[in-house]
Amino acid sequence: MSDCQKAGMLLSVIKTRRSTRRFKDAELPQDMLDMIIEAGRYAPSGGNNQKTHFLVMLDKALLSRLKELTNAALVKVEEEPGMYRSFLNSVNGAKKAAEEGKVRDFYYEAPVLILTASDENYYNRFADCACAIENMMLTANALDLGSCWINTVRFVQDDPELNEFLREVGMKEGEVVCGGVAIGFADTEDGLPAREPLPRTGNLVELI
Ligand SMILES: Cc1cc2nc3c(=O)[nH]c(=O)nc-3n(C[C@H](O)[C@H](O)[C@H](O)COP(=O)(O)O)c2cc1C
Repeated sequence: MSDCQKAGMLLSVIKTRRSTRRFKDAELPQDMLDMIIEAGRYAPSGGNNQKTHFLVMLDKALLSRLKELTNAALVKVEEEPGMYRSFLNSVNGAKKAAEEGKVRDFYYEAPVLILTASDENYYNRFADCACAIENMMLTANALDLGSCWINTVRFVQDDPELNEFLREVGMKEGEVVCGGVAIGFADTEDGLPAREPLPRTGNLVELI
């Protein structure tokens, strides 16, 4: 296979990755999960610091507790001017669900939610975690699995009860959640995630 063919295959995995927000209630085979975690761990890191901490949440009871605590924290948040729109949407979604006696499912009942945490004082914490998450999403796509970046926990991680829970499941002192990714089999007729790329209307390019 030529170098261009190899790059073409990689580009196809990149371009066909889409966010999945409906998952089947089916566990991931261990070998697939191992490959996804390995892809995350082999992401580059600023200065080769390798400070990303992967909290791989598989236990349904713990995921359910995370969902409850995250929503309870969101419900307490007051809207402020200039608030990040997705954060506000999460707050409003959690409040609406609570009014209806429900708990908003921010990770879409995926069988796996991988939170990436890093040193709160480390300059490249978000960049490193983003590299790891993208690597994991691309590997999931190559395995015909669906994935979706999940920021919700990050928004409210300072809530005392949620923070205590995050420590209980392994987040170390001085670490913060920088992002997460939900992964599983897409709940579609053919079992495959949506693949049609969204049109690129931003992300401008200048050839200089
Ligand atoms: C930094 C970042 C944060 C995101 N946070 C969330 C999130 O919390 N929940 C969610 O459902 N999607 C989240 N997304 C997914 C985006 O909404 C999605 O990537 C975007 O709409 C483009 O759609 P596509 O992934 O299907 O190409 C996030 C994506 C990124 C890159």
